Amino acid sequence: MFVKVFLPVSDKHNHSPVNTSPMKKKEDTRKIKIILAPLQGFTDVTYRNVFSTHFKGVDEAVAPFISTMGQKRLKPSRIKDVLPQKNRNLPVVPQILGNVPEDFIFLADHLYEMGHKRINWNLGCPHSKIAKKQRGSGLLCYPDKIDAFLDAVMPRLSNRLSVKIRLGRKDKAEIFSNLPVFDTYPLEEIILHPRTGVQMYTGHADLEAFESAIESSSHQFTYNGDIVDLKSFYRAQKRSHGIHRFMIGRGILSNPFLAEDIKGIDNPADRIKRIRAFHDDLFDGYQSIFSGPSHLTGRMKGFWTYLGPSFKDSKAPLKKILKSRTLDAYTDRVEAFFNTVHTFTGPSSGLFQD
Ligand SMILES: Cc1cc2nc3c(=O)[nH]c(=O)nc-3n(C[C@H](O)[C@H](O)[C@H](O)COP(=O)(O)O)c2cc1C
Repeated sequence: MFVKVFLPVSDKHNHSPVNTSPMKKKEDTRKIKIILAPLQGFTDVTYRNVFSTHFKGVDEAVAPFISTMGQKRLKPSRIKDVLPQKNRNLPVVPQILGNVPEDFIFLADHLYEMGHKRINWNLGCPHSKIAKKQRGSGLLCYPDKIDAFLDAVMPRLSNRLSVKIRLGRKDKAEIFSNLPVFDTYPLEEIILHPRTGVQMYTGHADLEAFESAIESSSHQFTYNGDIVDLKSFYRAQKRSHGIHRFMIGRGILSNPFLAEDIKGIDNPADRIKRIRAFHDDLFDGYQSIFSGPSHLTGRMKGFWTYLGPSFKDSKAPLKKILKSRTLDAYTDRVEAFFNTVHTFTGPSSGLFQD
């Protein structure tokens, strides 16, 4: 039986209203930590390394999840993603998806031996195939199971554990049954994406629910959800009770300058040229690891779906890139894209919402 600790409610919640005067904003940005969200199929080690060579402002990343496999087995291709020697540019926290304590501990121990002192437990994955098996957000409607899992796992973990959660599986009130459970364990932090699992990515990130969650927990929080520009960042910051940690996923895919902008890091170089250079390195990076051309163009098109709409008048040249079937067509159309577009606007605030 794990001896549960009741953490004192610390002074982490600065309840003073956020002052958005320029001076105050500047002070706040010095403390801000930006964490790159895990995005399976996007923010892997290749992306993280290339991104952090070209853009500043991101402090760390949580890697896309590694599933537990049972019977003390590991998937080497997934472990490769978090090899410390390949992740020197940007500190990375591996994430585990699973609900069987023995399997979780086996993988966590392996990660610890690799050098990972911090790991994250995925309690947010919304996909029904995963949730049906009571993994990811599928566990959020079973606080007793979360409790039993943490009770079995926490005393045996060498790594510090954080959790990445949603408000609930079906109902946002579920979080208020889970927070008291989390309060009894020494978690490093709670990363909260304030949507339910069944919502997937529809509707809005619920800032009011995020605020209530912070008030109902003694843990440190990281905010995650729908930050795509300065306006949405300030909106989230205002409702986050002085917390300093913000995780951003799709907003960074759409606007790689976002963390620099939030932190006020100036870089006078031409934004389109910087994106072009980033794109070319990303392409080279994936070309060196993917065997077939369709695999390579498929991966690059994924990035274009986020990045492409962030340029003014990009609809037609983007459509051509997304329709290209061969590597030659892809490279020609990327060339044409960069010859056509002249302004990088970033995504519109409503991009990820219904
Ligand atoms: C394509 C895709 C893949 C994702 N993969 C993961 C994952 O592996 N682990 C995880 O915890 N969340 C994953 N997420 C959720 C994101 O980490 C994040 O919580 C969500 O996108 C909301 O943040 P954002 O609005 O800043 O993108 C994924 C989301 C997307 C769109």
